[in-house]
Amino acid sequence: MEALVIRGGRPLMGTVEISGAKNAALPILAATMVRGGRYVLRNCPAITDVELAAEIIRALGGQVERAGRTLYVDTADACGWQIPSSLMARMRASVLFLGALLARFGRVSLTMPGGCPLGRRPIDLHLEAMARMGASVTLREEEILCTASHLHGGTVEFPFPSVGATENALLAATAACGTVILRGAAREPEIGCLIGFLRSMGAEIEGAGTDTLTVHGQAALDGTTYTILPDRIETATYLCAAAACGGDVTLTAADGSLLLPVLEALAQAGCHIETGRDRITLRSGGRLRAAHNLTTAPYPGFPTDAQAPMMAVLLRAEGESRLTETVFEGRMAHVAQLRKFGADIAVTGPTALIRGVTRLHPAHAEAGDLRAAAALVLAALQAEGESTILGLKHLDRGYDNLEGNLKRLGAEITRIDN
Ligand code: EPZ
Repeated sequence: MEALVIRGGRPLMGTVEISGAKNAALPILAATMVRGGRYVLRNCPAITDVELAAEIIRALGGQVERAGRTLYVDTADACGWQIPSSLMARMRASVLFLGALLARFGRVSLTMPGGCPLGRRPIDLHLEAMARMGASVTLREEEILCTASHLHGGTVEFPFPSVGATENALLAATAACGTVILRGAAREPEIGCLIGFLRSMGAEIEGAGTDTLTVHGQAALDGTTYTILPDRIETATYLCAAAACGGDVTLTAADGSLLLPVLEALAQAGCHIETGRDRITLRSGGRLRAAHNLTTAPYPGFPTDAQAPMMAVLLRAEGESRLTETVFEGRMAHVAQLRKFGADIAVTGPTALIRGVTRLHPAHAEAGDLRAAAALVLAALQAEGESTILGLKHLDRGYDNLEGNLKRLGAEITRIDN
């Protein structure tokens, strides 16, 4: 089992280039199955979740080749509509092939998706959206069978702005006979990127960036070339690393407008942040201030995916911080691991109360999900001495060369085969 060995206690200095967004690349890869064709996806991160989505496309008969950070996808000959359960189980985004395959073949067989253990994570909103467009959903033991002789227009009301359900509904709606209106849709920038991709294929979609999306189905679709937007959560992670360790870090190929609540929280904690056209610089020195009441929320609120990295920033901040998680009911598993570094955190329901300590000590910790892994790395970077972090399979799902980038910033970090 691999581990990261980190000797912390040093400031971070230098420049890192931000990768393309995992949570845009994944729905866009699913979208290449909506219409058989050739696609060129630029700025695609080299992470295991993207490789897994490519495996699903290949399992369905498509072809995917990587050249650096560009993927060449050809789904013209793909005719599979049954997603292997072994691939479904390995990530949440495998569920996004539901809407794409229903649109293309009028049928899809899948099992429950895997992914980070952040709570129950049902897919009821996904299936209800398909049913609203005329699909019939049959549950047979482990298998979920979705069929639709034809998808029709109508209105889908989301009780909660589910990112994945919004994406699945968009993919299916491109094939509907008529107009589909999605009310209460999620507004994450990655959905805007997916809409941009679908429109570049020829889809007719209005309302990007709002909670009401209108899709005029049956538009003529074709292959396309598209560039994926910067990863705002990767950006938040490096900013949190610089804030937690102190130093002077510049992120290029970044877009600060995608993560304003994170920039605001770090500035309030005492960091100095400058944003330029495609770059963000964060300078931090001395002890940070506590965040008295930070709450995650669907976009444009503070992103749930930045909750764990931000908690790592607050571990040594002066005073008491309160961090409340409102999106996932089970997204505090990193707290027990952070306590191993000497963090003082009490959790009551969805709220973590973090009392800032002056020092963290090295520890041996293990991550159970992607963003928890990032938080443990950030804790280890603050602790003087040698820490080891396990659970790298989670880290590698969503970060493209994290340790290489941190090393470039001056961190003492090495991956070993433990
Ligand atoms: C996407 O997950 C992201 N993953 C997550 O990022 C992110 O945390 C999440 O959106 C929220 O922003 C990808 O894009 C691949 P949701 P998703 O549907 O689509 C409940 C990361 O670290 N819900 O918006 O699964 C659900 O249980 C990952 O990069 C239902 O009840 O998120 C959760 O409590 C982690 N029924 C809430 O809604 C449903 O049918 C938000 O889930 C669907 C969701």
